[in-house]
Amino acid sequence: MTDLASSVEPAIFTIFGITGDLAQRKLLPALYHLKKDNLLPRHFIINGITRRGTTKEDVLQKIRDRLKEAGTPCDESVIKQLGNALHVVKMDMTDVSDYHNLKQVLDKQEARTGTCLNRLFYLAIPSQIFAPVVAMLGEAAMHTGCQHHKAESRLLIEKPFGFDLESAHELINVVSKDFNETQIYRIDHYLAKETVQNILTFRMQNPLFNTAWDSKHISRIMITAAEKIGIEGRVAFYEQMGALRDLVQSHLLQLLAIVTMEAPTELSSDAIHAARLGVLQAIRPPAPDLMASLTVRGQYHNYKKEVANERSTTETFAAVQLSIDNETWQKVPVLIRTGKGMAQKATEITIVFEQPDNAGLQNYLTIRIQPNEGIVLQMRIKKPGYDHKIETVQMNFCYGTEISPEHPDAYERVIVDSMRGDKTLFATSEEVLECWRITQPILHAWEHNSNTMHTYKQGSWGPIEADELVANTGGEWLTDELHICSVHKPHAF
Ligand code: BG6
Repeated sequence: MTDLASSVEPAIFTIFGITGDLAQRKLLPALYHLKKDNLLPRHFIINGITRRGTTKEDVLQKIRDRLKEAGTPCDESVIKQLGNALHVVKMDMTDVSDYHNLKQVLDKQEARTGTCLNRLFYLAIPSQIFAPVVAMLGEAAMHTGCQHHKAESRLLIEKPFGFDLESAHELINVVSKDFNETQIYRIDHYLAKETVQNILTFRMQNPLFNTAWDSKHISRIMITAAEKIGIEGRVAFYEQMGALRDLVQSHLLQLLAIVTMEAPTELSSDAIHAARLGVLQAIRPPAPDLMASLTVRGQYHNYKKEVANERSTTETFAAVQLSIDNETWQKVPVLIRTGKGMAQKATEITIVFEQPDNAGLQNYLTIRIQPNEGIVLQMRIKKPGYDHKIETVQMNFCYGTEISPEHPDAYERVIVDSMRGDKTLFATSEEVLECWRITQPILHAWEHNSNTMHTYKQGSWGPIEADELVANTGGEWLTDELHICSVHKPHAF
């Protein structure tokens, strides 16, 4: 057994919403891969909660389908082993007596293994029912761990954690009634992406960049999370969310925090959380009178038809300019944009370096989170030849060719870390509240229609106004210019 496998504690993993999109697209395939890699503990039970008449075979078939879609060969012996661990439990999530029944199911499962198991409850359900489900888990005394109280009970909650600042506070109050902070794992799967975890290492382990990571050397930070896909049938969810809540409030502010946080005092989970929180507290949204010029909201052309709501004011694109009010980042504009229906899938962070003595000459460092994961430094060289011409070239580090294309998927990491009780890659309640504090004034301004909704063509880079936003800071988004770790351009000497 590997060290990793031995640190993963025995558990009963109960998934609320086994037939939902998240469970089927992410959690079940992640469990398959963990099983295949032998990273699940010997005593491991999966309970799939559903109110429908789903069978175990239906769930296993979904795994096969998903693997096929991903072009991954399916190992039937792994499916069989997962099948042995899997139980489908039918219950009404609104009925507290069903939670008492569920507790008996867990007690019996545990008794059969003859050992105390951690109890993990994964809420892969619509966020509107997080609060009642958690309250009923509490009422049925499921927050207390195994029957003999020797193992922990843990709650894994998907985003969105709240719908705005006020509801996030309320949810925190409800959840903390029965579960204490150490038991709560707030998932932001971006934190668990391999390339995101590397950001801190890259920053801290390379003095060249570490010593230049401040406003003296950096003139702009740009984060793009573009998705080619639209809303993929998630009409009810997306109409409520919009791009700002869906991506900016959670994933992208966390990315920004990792890029701009001070070095943690040590590499412990608490110290990393404290450093992330420290910078989040310093992030400022645009002032109310600048909201119209420093934020852009957009909707792709066909959206209203797709959601059958001609009056929809939900944004499928958001761009915002933020600032960080601390000594390190004074006056460095931060530009964030995200959208559905864009030209290509690309999540990346670009750091634009200053060259104070050579006005106009800048180096760009791009960290490509996905796809074609890698890091690219743009720099100038002399173009080979008799003339002294300058050319801009890229120095690329590509995960795919230089290290290994194989790394754990974010959800595999989420499951493993929750089982071994490592909370580093999860968001604390304070971080979540700070992220809402930053987004709330923008939501407010947009709800009160202070900004025009710009429409954009699917397959484009979003509204032109977002280009103007970055142009006003003296730059441009570079995403479509860079050829990161994809097919290399031929030499053009
Ligand atoms: C989810 C959002 O949190 O992240 C989705 O709800 C989005 O709308 C997804 O598509 C993007 O995740 P990834 O890992 O594919 O970039």
